[in-house]
Amino acid sequence: MDYRTEIRRLAAEMDAVILAHNYQPAEIQEIADITGDSLGLSIQAAQTDKSTIVFCGVHFMAETAHMLSPQKTVLLPEINAGCPMADMITADKLREFKKQHPNAAVVCYVNTTAEVKAESDICCTSANAVNVIKHVEADEIIFVPDRNLGHYVSRFTDKKMILWQGWCPIHNRTTELEVRQLKEKYPDALVVAHPENPPSVVDLADHVCSTSGIYTYCRESTNKRFIIATEEGVRYLLEKQNPDKEFIFAYDGFICKNMKKTTLKSLYEALLHKQHVITVPEEIREKGVRCIQKMLDIPRNY
Ligand code: 13P
Ligand code: SF4
Repeated sequence: MDYRTEIRRLAAEMDAVILAHNYQPAEIQEIADITGDSLGLSIQAAQTDKSTIVFCGVHFMAETAHMLSPQKTVLLPEINAGCPMADMITADKLREFKKQHPNAAVVCYVNTTAEVKAESDICCTSANAVNVIKHVEADEIIFVPDRNLGHYVSRFTDKKMILWQGWCPIHNRTTELEVRQLKEKYPDALVVAHPENPPSVVDLADHVCSTSGIYTYCRESTNKRFIIATEEGVRYLLEKQNPDKEFIFAYDGFICKNMKKTTLKSLYEALLHKQHVITVPEEIREKGVRCIQKMLDIPRNY
C-alpha cells in the first residue's frame, strides 16, 4: 500500500486539510498541507474552508481547532497523543488557585485542556506570550501551566506574575552545562532556544522564540552553525531551508514521544475511518473559545 498516494486521494475526496505541527515526524510534515507552530496552526484552523481538519499533533491542538471551528470535523490520528505539560493542571486546580489570587487575570498557555481554557481570561502561545501579557490590564497575572515560559515573559513586564509549577519534560531536561559545553566546542554557533527551556538555558540563548520563529531566525541569519534547544522535529525544515548550515541539538534525543506517535499508517487510517473525532462539549467550548479568540484579536507585531 502506498500510504502517501492514498492519503492524498482520501484527503481530496473528503475535503480535508492536513495540519502538522513542526515537531511531527518528517514524513508527516512532508505530506501535510500546512505545517506550523501552535499559533500558526490555530489561525489556519480558524480560517480554513475545508470541512474536515486532520490535526497531526497532540490532543490540545485538535481541541483548539474544534473550539475555533465547531461546525467542522476535527480528527486526531493518534488518540493517545497528549501533552504531559497540559495535564499538569486541571480546571478544578485552577479554580482553587484563582480563589487564592482573586484579583489576578488568568493567562493560559495554549498547551492546556479545553476545560482549563474555559477557566482562563486569555490564551497565549510561545510566539505571542510577551505581547499577550502586555495587553492584559490586571496588575497581577496567574500564568498556567508552564513555569519556564511564565518566567521568560516575566522578564518583559512589571506585572506580578504568579506561576503555576508545570513544565515540559522534554524542554525542561535541557541543561545549562550541556549548552555551555556545546558553545565551547562550537564557538561560532548561535544558540536558539524555545522559551519552554529552563531560565538558565534561555539566558545562554542568542534568540528565544517559537518553533516557527526558529525557522525565520536561522534562515535570515548569515551564521552557518546553530545550537538548537527544542524538539528535533524542527530539523526537517531547518535542513531543507538551509542546506549550507549546520544544526546541533542541545542534547541527544530531544524528542517528544507524543508528537512522534503519528505515522503515515495512522494518518491514512484517520482519513479512511474518520477517526478520532475530537469534540469539546458546547458549554466548555463557548467559554474556552473566548480566551482563544481574545488572543487572536490582539494586533500582531511578530
Ligand atoms: P510552538 O507553539 O512553539 O509550536 O510550541 C508548541 C510546543 O508544544 C512546544 O513544546
Ligand atoms: Fe507538550 Fe513538551 Fe511535547 Fe510540546 S514538546 S507537546 S510541551 S510534551
